[in-house]
Amino acid sequence: MLSPIDLLDVAEAAAQRAGHYLRALGDPPAPADWTVKGERDFVTHVDRESERLITEVLLPATPGSRILGEELSPTGAMDGLVWVVDPLDGTTNFLHRFPVWAVSIGAALDGELLAGVVLDVPRGRLFRASKGGGAWEDGRRLSVSTVRDPSQALIGTGFPFKELDRIGEYQRQFAAVAAATSGIRRPGAAALDLADVAAGRFDGFWELMLSPWDMAAGILMIREAGGVVTDLAGRAVNAEHTGLVAGNPAMHEWLLGVVATPA
Ligand code: IPD
Ligand code: CA
Ligand code: CA
Repeated sequence: MLSPIDLLDVAEAAAQRAGHYLRALGDPPAPADWTVKGERDFVTHVDRESERLITEVLLPATPGSRILGEELSPTGAMDGLVWVVDPLDGTTNFLHRFPVWAVSIGAALDGELLAGVVLDVPRGRLFRASKGGGAWEDGRRLSVSTVRDPSQALIGTGFPFKELDRIGEYQRQFAAVAAATSGIRRPGAAALDLADVAAGRFDGFWELMLSPWDMAAGILMIREAGGVVTDLAGRAVNAEHTGLVAGNPAMHEWLLGVVATPA
């Protein structure tokens, strides 16, 4: 079995391959070529091709592993070595040429996160984390922020645009967080939001529902940077379909107190 650092190198090679493809594309596909995946949720051949390129690197490098990937293999058990792949996180941004999107790849062994890479393609930044090896942005070791007072905090979030039946619940949370903090941001790519928590740019983050591929790499990054990640009931998470609350330890505790939803 490869070490977490070896897994990280494999993940990085795969992410860089996808990044090369995505960078070389130039303009995104035209609206006529977007396929509706769900309400307010489009996908194109670019997402699928990116995942195919990633898969071609990951599987031969780790025989016996499998892929949990958003576009090509989105279901399956978490036993053994599983690569959790978002080939293009922030597709809506990408399609509109809003330069906040990334490739995210996590490695989990029997459900435990061991390695994660987030490649910020438009800004050319690489985030890496391995279990016990810390979290890194390019050559810089990451640690979560030291903000303890909510009034000084910048909080990241994602809107529940796929679950508009939860908008009332979200608006109440939003109002409470907005009233107590110095600001809320919604950049539109969850993997980068989580990397920003690890880097200390966001003091906290919450979203009502995310998928394993949005969060696998980012969760490990935050933990390795000294932060805390749970679901909205305060339970530890790995790579699941769940809501998320994250932050430095103090801001996570505060934010969870504001947005907590019973299990
Ligand atoms: C989405 C982004 C977004 C989050 C959504 C995700 P996608 O991923 O991460 O920030 O709010 O829940 O689905 O669809 O662009 O890969
Ligand atoms: Ca995503
Ligand atoms: Ca995606």
